[in-house]
Amino acid sequence: MPSLNGEFVPPGDKSVSHRLVLLSLLSKGEMLIKGLSACEDVASSLNCFRILGGRCREEQEGLRIFGANRRLCSDEGVTELDCGNSGTTMRLLAGILAGIPGFYRLDGDGQLRKRPMERVCEPLRMMGATIETLLGKPPLTMTGGNIVAMDYAIQEASAQVKGAILLAGLSAEGGPTAVTEVAPTRSHTERLIDHFGGRVETNGLRVKVWPGTLTLPETFVTPADPSSAAFFLAGAAIIPGSRVTAKNLLLSNGRTGFLKVLDRMGAKISLTMTSDTPEPAGEVTVEYNGPLNATEVPAEEIPSLIDEIPVLSLVATQADGETVFRKVDELRIKETDRLMSIRHQLGALGARVRVDGDDLFVRGPTSFILPESLDSGKDHRLAMTLTMALVAANAGIPVIGDESIPISYPGFREDLEKLTRESGAR
Ligand code: S3P
Repeated sequence: MPSLNGEFVPPGDKSVSHRLVLLSLLSKGEMLIKGLSACEDVASSLNCFRILGGRCREEQEGLRIFGANRRLCSDEGVTELDCGNSGTTMRLLAGILAGIPGFYRLDGDGQLRKRPMERVCEPLRMMGATIETLLGKPPLTMTGGNIVAMDYAIQEASAQVKGAILLAGLSAEGGPTAVTEVAPTRSHTERLIDHFGGRVETNGLRVKVWPGTLTLPETFVTPADPSSAAFFLAGAAIIPGSRVTAKNLLLSNGRTGFLKVLDRMGAKISLTMTSDTPEPAGEVTVEYNGPLNATEVPAEEIPSLIDEIPVLSLVATQADGETVFRKVDELRIKETDRLMSIRHQLGALGARVRVDGDDLFVRGPTSFILPESLDSGKDHRLAMTLTMALVAANAGIPVIGDESIPISYPGFREDLEKLTRESGAR
C-alpha cells in the first residue's frame, strides 16, 4: 500500500481569498496579494470583481488588486454576474451589492442554482435592499443602495450569512449593524474588516460593524487552506507508514475542528505556530499512529469542520467503533446533498454509514470492497475524499466527476503524486 510522505503547501485559503477580492470593492488603496487561491471558486469572485469595474494585474510576486472604493460600473442597466459554482461568491456579493446603488443579477451553474439563498436575501431585504429569487434559489435579481443598519439573529450556523450582513453593514446608514449567531462560525469577514481599518467588535456570538470605508494593506500573504490540507492530513492518519506536513496553514479557531477530531481519534499531530496576524498560521504534521478510535462530534463543533465532514467520515470508516456527527443537516444543501453522497459512495466501498434524523453515523473499521466506479456527483470535496479512499485501498477505479476538484484544489493531483512518490523513494 502506498503511504503519504513529505511536505506540501496547499492552495491559499479559499474563504480568505474570496473575502480579499470582494472586500476590495469597498476599499480604497491597492494591495499585493501573495498566495491568493487559484481555484475556480475564487476565479468566480475575481470575474465578478472585474465585471463590476474592479482592476487587478498579475505580478511576479502575486496579484495586485486596486480598491474600487464603491465606484462600480453598475449604472448602465442590469449588471450580470456569473458566480459559477461558488455559493460564497453569490452570498457575500449579495451583501456587498445590497449597499451599492445599481441593478444586479447574480446567477450560477446548475449546482449553485439548487442552493438556498433566502437565508441571505431575507436579512438584506430587512435592511432595505430589493431582492428577488426564483423560489428561494438563484438567480438573484437585486437593486442596491440606501440600506439601513439592523440587529439580526441568524437562524443557521453560517459564516456566509454572517459575512453577507456584515458586508452590507459597511454601507448601512444609522449603524452599527449587529448579528447574533447560533454557534461560532469562521471569523474571516470580521478579521479582515478590522485589518482593513474598519470598525468591528465581537462579543461572544455577537458581532457589530460600523459603516465606513476600508483601506487595503500594502501586501497580504494568504495562509494555506486547512480544508484542502485536510485530505492529505486525514489520509496520513489512516494509511500506515504515512507522515505528512502542511506548511503555512491557516489555523484560526473556526477552521481547525478537524484537527481536534483527528486528535481525539488518536492520530499523532504536531503543530507549530508561525504567525498570528491577520490570521493565525503554522505548520501541521500528521503521522500514522496505528488504529484510530471512533468519536462523537457534537453540534457545536460542526461549523468548525463543516467542509471536512466527507473526509472525516472516511477516517471514521477506519476507526474502531461508531463515530457520530450531530446535527449535520447543513450538509444537505452543499454542492450536493453531502449526507446522501457520503452514505452512498462510502457505502459503495462497504462502509457502514447511516443517517438518522440530522445525525450521521459511521461504523468502523471497514475493509473496503471495490465497486466498478465511484461517483462524486461533481462535488469537489467528495471527489477528493473518494480519491483518498482509493489511495488507502490501493485501488485504481475511476471517480466519476473528479474534474470538479479544481473548484477548490487545483494542485490536488500534483500534491498527491508528490506525497506518494516521496513515500516510494524512502
Ligand atoms: C464558507 C462558509 C461555509 C463553508 C463554505 C465556505 C465561507 O458555508 O461550508 O465552504 O467562506 O464563509 P456556510 O456559511 O453555508 O456554512
